[in-house]
Amino acid sequence: KLNERESMYLVSEYAKDYFSEILWEREQGKAIGLSYFKERGFTDDTIRKFDLGYCLDLWDSFTKTALDKGYQLEFLEKTGLTIVKEDPGNPTKKRTFDRFKGRVLFPIHSMSGRILGFGGRILTSDKRAAKYLNSPESDIYHKSKVLYGIYHAKQAIAKEDNCYLVEGYTDVIQMHQRGVHNVVASSGTALTSDQIRLINRLTKNITVLFDGDAAGLRASLKGIDLILEQGMNVKVCSFPAGEDPDSFSKNNEYKEVIAYLNEHSKDFIQFKASLLIDEAANDPIKRADTVRDIVNSIAKIPDRIQREIYIQECSQIMNISESVLFNTLAQIGKKDS
Ligand code: CTP
Ligand code: MN
Ligand code: MN
Ligand code: MN
Ligand code: MN
Repeated sequence: KLNERESMYLVSEYAKDYFSEILWEREQGKAIGLSYFKERGFTDDTIRKFDLGYCLDLWDSFTKTALDKGYQLEFLEKTGLTIVKEDPGNPTKKRTFDRFKGRVLFPIHSMSGRILGFGGRILTSDKRAAKYLNSPESDIYHKSKVLYGIYHAKQAIAKEDNCYLVEGYTDVIQMHQRGVHNVVASSGTALTSDQIRLINRLTKNITVLFDGDAAGLRASLKGIDLILEQGMNVKVCSFPAGEDPDSFSKNNEYKEVIAYLNEHSKDFIQFKASLLIDEAANDPIKRADTVRDIVNSIAKIPDRIQREIYIQECSQIMNISESVLFNTLAQIGKKDS
């Protein structure tokens, strides 16, 4: 099993090099893949740093080349790089397809820099095909345990003692290029506790930066409790409607990005309270729902003193007596620390 995983790492490493060579050296790669990334504002340095690549829009050009080089079909299939199907006309014969055919590629690095899998973005606006296609779960790629960008961000996360958490590949890359290096993405999955534990090894502070749309808001609300549960501090920073960290960092200078992040990052109580104000500040029933929702989040915090401090803050912001809040907290029946 260990050897199998090693073979899967090797073929993934090879694929990363191959797709990057296509991007930089081949006419089709340059015309389609490289120009796509340049169009998005990525510099040569950035494209190389993140090992971005392109898979030709042919049926199995990558698979054939890998087999010629001596990589085994077994591991091409196990990593999901190659899709193997029966030939309908001839059951003894198998046909192979490149999973990422015609897509630009974002290799996913482990904390130590090994290639675990890929995210592939489609270049056409064909709504029937998924915008992003990711490597399937395998012995080396567990999407719930991986954070895109962690390899490039780990030092900065420790140094800044804070981690920005974004949704997508291009958000990580654009912010990194803009000079904000402590950024990772949950890419292609709702945030999981395993992913948060990965960050917890480097810092206790997470700032959630989600897209300025309904999906982004939902995702940040879900993320808050998971982060609090691990005894970590969470802030939330939302972006103007229609913007995401990628577009925002592309259109603003480093100083403006940092200023925006500092000014708009709210702790989770302020954040939840601000959603109420946007919606219906004077509606007593909605106010009550917001208070309950905040206390529910406070109940997730393992440390009793921290809970107490947040109750005080909630009391001030929502203008509710602390004793009522403590009673509500007690009813939720939180385990003590
Ligand atoms: N995602 C995915 N499959 C999809 C759509 C999205 O896996 N069909 C993941 C990708 O990791 C993507 C992230 O969710 O980066 C956020 O989605 P979205 O905001 O739609 O994409 P962006 O990252 O903004 O991509 P782009 O700017 O290229 O449109
Ligand atoms: Mn693993
Ligand atoms: Mn989005
Ligand atoms: Mn986005
Ligand atoms: Mn985007």
